[in-house]
Amino acid sequence: MFDKEYYSEIIEKAIAEIDYGKGPRGLFLPVEYTLEGGGKRLRPMLLLATCEALGREPGKAINQAVGIEMFHNFTLLHDDVMDKAEVRRGRPTVHRRWNESVAILSGDAMLTMATQLVVKCTDIYTADCMAEILDLFNTTAMEVYAGQQLDMEFESRRDVTVEEYIEMIRLKTSVLLACACKMGALMAGASEKDADAMYRYGELLGLAFQLQDDNLDTYGDPALFGKEIGGDIINEKKTWLWINAMNREPKRLQRVLDQKLTDYLKIREVRKIYDDLNLREEAQALIERYANEAVEALANVGMTPEARDFFTSLALKSAARSH
Ligand code: IPE
Ligand code: IPE
Ligand code: MG
Ligand code: MG
Ligand code: MG
Repeated sequence: MFDKEYYSEIIEKAIAEIDYGKGPRGLFLPVEYTLEGGGKRLRPMLLLATCEALGREPGKAINQAVGIEMFHNFTLLHDDVMDKAEVRRGRPTVHRRWNESVAILSGDAMLTMATQLVVKCTDIYTADCMAEILDLFNTTAMEVYAGQQLDMEFESRRDVTVEEYIEMIRLKTSVLLACACKMGALMAGASEKDADAMYRYGELLGLAFQLQDDNLDTYGDPALFGKEIGGDIINEKKTWLWINAMNREPKRLQRVLDQKLTDYLKIREVRKIYDDLNLREEAQALIERYANEAVEALANVGMTPEARDFFTSLALKSAARSH
């Protein structure tokens, strides 16, 4: 068990079987387009693996897994409008393929479908924990919105600290990975202690994951990453790279930012500052530290060595990912 292929198979099957009802096709076409576009399926994978690690057949949590993936995809539709992103998973974003109104409304439908899936249980054993699961889901969703708001507010600030940045990525990204882990634990009927340890694993993994996403936004290969490179620099997103460049070479970075450069030149000049300061390597070391801390968070969770290996390898691979 702990077979990625098996998880992937049941996730894809459940996604293919989603019932979109009789509503207008225009509402659901972008939803199908988004879900069919692939993606790593990290969050549903975490949910199913946690459910299995803590003692229950993973298929029992498939609705929750697909619900969390649906929620994640909903955030991407709105995020791409907010970030003016044109490409995702190697294809035009929904607001480019259709328009912004479509991205907003299909996103809304995805949020509601996500909630419906998260509370859909098919057996009596998990019926009792549905209130807790819905509460966890809603709390997490509100935190994601808070993180996204901070992400936007930081665009027009140049004094953002590393601590503020870490809290922002914890909210916009980590809590959803953490929620996936904890929800899998709750579906397995795990103890509160184990469920909280799994949450902490997801939270630390999420910090490594977003730091790596930010590195790839500047240094990734667009063919593998599936997104355009340099968007964070153009939007003046406050990333670990940017904040450290501002702390160490404020005058040089400000000079570049205040010139009216083309996008291409702005990306090139800012990246040159990062390179001169070796920030990419330093960020990589921090990413590995968070991935290791994630693994350490599992130290007292009762699981088989096979399960532990799965979560360890997932954390280390996420830290070194190229897409
Ligand atoms: C993208 O998430 C948004 C972030 C939190 C960085 P993923 O990198 O998991 O996106 P997909 O689902 O694999 O495309
Ligand atoms: C992702 O942040 C956070 C959420 C979608 C909630 P990014 O804006 O960095 O994600 P990408 O790079 O567009 O996938
Ligand atoms: Mg974005
Ligand atoms: Mg964003
Ligand atoms: Mg990004």
